[in-house]
Amino acid sequence: MEKNLELVRRPRRLRGNSVLRKMVRETRMDRSSLVYPMFVTEGTNIKEEISSMMGQYRYSVDRMEEKLTELCDAGVTSVMLFGIPDQKDEVGSGAYAQDGIVQKAFRRAKEVCPELYLIGDVCMCEYTSHGHCGVLHGQEVDNDKTLELLAKTALSQVQAGADMVAPSDMMDGRVAAIRRMLDQKGYIQVPIMSYSVKFASSFYGPFRDAADSAPAFGDRKSYQMDYHNRREALKEAALDVEEGADILMVKPAMAYGDLIREVKDRTNLPVAAYSVSGEYSMVKTTAKAGFIDETSVMCEMAASAFRAGTDIYITYFAQELAKCIEEGRIG
Ligand code: PBG
Repeated sequence: MEKNLELVRRPRRLRGNSVLRKMVRETRMDRSSLVYPMFVTEGTNIKEEISSMMGQYRYSVDRMEEKLTELCDAGVTSVMLFGIPDQKDEVGSGAYAQDGIVQKAFRRAKEVCPELYLIGDVCMCEYTSHGHCGVLHGQEVDNDKTLELLAKTALSQVQAGADMVAPSDMMDGRVAAIRRMLDQKGYIQVPIMSYSVKFASSFYGPFRDAADSAPAFGDRKSYQMDYHNRREALKEAALDVEEGADILMVKPAMAYGDLIREVKDRTNLPVAAYSVSGEYSMVKTTAKAGFIDETSVMCEMAASAFRAGTDIYITYFAQELAKCIEEGRIG
């Protein structure tokens, strides 16, 4: 007893009651921070499960409405669209076609859920026959030639109804190129969320399956970042700030909390984190095997991203997370 009295500092005092635990909680979440990435495919009456991402589907444009309505009802206010075209070519012309799959999807989404905030992923990899994120010169991705096409892609998405564009290609100078194009065409108010700190990551595996966008040869290491690097992440972030990005993204999220924090502390832009397909699928499959509790792990991962400094959390679990936030289970 005598000894206990010496123990003045007792952190456990603040953990003894659930009301108190919530009062002293440091990270609070709101459904308005969530973005749901959604895959849209050519064809009609399609809702097909993505085999590498249990519980995620490819929707044809005419079937988008059911998912969009569900999201709205759950309080998810923003969606990021990925198009899966029927035809691919060397120069990814489907990416900037007026009647391209993602352009059709934007028009439809605006029609059926006008209150949803729509974000366009700007990249070529789903649209090129070789699966790289830009046009090739020999075996190399030609940076400067790709910039023109990315700017055209961003413009076509905005013209189709995208409220914001998010370049994910990792070419140098793409934020500036897109900004210039949008400004020239009068879209000065459309923000750019740059996939600023994007690593060459094996966590994208299931996505490439979902979007049929794996590179036909080589890898993405000549344009996406080496995951050993921290200072380079800050360089990328600083360049995008200079080029006119409005929001900076770190991707993936789960293994990169250190960089979410650093980008947050060293810039004054909002920070987005993308919890990618591999993170999602690891949770789904491990939970299915009975080794973890899916909902608890999902909540813990989200809290860690927000604790690291995330303002905008892009996740395939958006709808389920919104429910947990609403029910007070998290945040
Ligand atoms: C397009 C793009 C990718 C992802 C988002 N945009 C794939 C890639 O870079 O290979 C990955 C998203 C995910 O894994 O959930 N370049």
